[in-house]
Amino acid sequence: MARVPRMRIDEVAQKILATGIRNRWYGVCPSDLVEEGPLALKRWGEDLVAWRDTAGNVHLQEDRCPHRAAPMSLARHDGDRLTCIYHGVEILGDGVVASVPGVPGSKLEGRCLVRTYPTKEFKGVIFAWYGDELHQDPAPFELPERLVSDEYEAILSYGEWRTPYRYMIDNNMDPMHGAYLHAVSHSMAKGAKEAEFEVIETNHGLRFQKKGQESINFDWSEWYDNGFQSVCLEIPYPSTGGPGGNFGIVFHITPIDDVTSACFFWRHRKVSGWVKDVWRFLYKNRLEERHWHVLEQDRLVAERMKPDADEHEHLYEHDLGLTQVRKLLAEEAETQVKALQEAGHLN
Ligand code: FES
Ligand SMILES: [Fe+2]
Repeated sequence: MARVPRMRIDEVAQKILATGIRNRWYGVCPSDLVEEGPLALKRWGEDLVAWRDTAGNVHLQEDRCPHRAAPMSLARHDGDRLTCIYHGVEILGDGVVASVPGVPGSKLEGRCLVRTYPTKEFKGVIFAWYGDELHQDPAPFELPERLVSDEYEAILSYGEWRTPYRYMIDNNMDPMHGAYLHAVSHSMAKGAKEAEFEVIETNHGLRFQKKGQESINFDWSEWYDNGFQSVCLEIPYPSTGGPGGNFGIVFHITPIDDVTSACFFWRHRKVSGWVKDVWRFLYKNRLEERHWHVLEQDRLVAERMKPDADEHEHLYEHDLGLTQVRKLLAEEAETQVKALQEAGHLN
């Protein structure tokens, strides 16, 4: 096997880090953004098309006709297939060419020529498996317990922000910004302005927490990576904030490209039965607006940071959680490149 230069390995690892770790499930967008017709989307720096067949199944494919690369997001929706408007080639949901009407019996027919990403739809969100050449088949779809357990009720907020995805992982792995950036918010005004932190290893990542202060402010966050990457955190609520104890957020992010991101915030409480409806009602009527206000503070900072901002930092102890996650991501990118190299997929 030809030796791949170290520079090339570094370059591919950097690309993976910039556009998203492979071999993971990612949120693509809220379900209601994808109606029947083809929708052009970009995720992981790739041009994609999402559409829904007449049975309601969502398909996510590269936005490129296999004939001469016309965008399939311009295609006509024909029930179980998209028909390219340029010369009428028909593509099924699994990426197989169903028909080449200009040349009946063409050898292109029956061949899978369009990259298709396995998808799942769960609680109003479309997810897709982003696998590399060695992992086209998806791993089990496992979301954090806070999103699947009946004991919690989660409400999604979704936004597309002009910031590299890694800055928002940093943001969520940085509890201390709660006491500063959000100090005047309804839920993060209390607690010490200084703290010592510790890192605790968990089954699927790590927990970064303040020593000696819990349930006062944004006091801990947990990195979770089990085929799906997210950050879980909690912020205490005053008793006027309704049922369910601490207010929790599961944060997940999907790179749109290296400088833009699709952000998913599932705001949740530990509630069951009819209390779920109370929480939903309260959230929609009283809390959602306040939460968007807090998120806008994060967005303002993240969007104003330059794409190379993390090359000019002076980190201190409070940044240990995010540096640990950065390290895990960098190691995973390197592992993925090496596996591709060994299998001869890098040249
Ligand atoms: S480019 Fe699509 S049919 Fe020719
Ligand atoms: Fe924040």
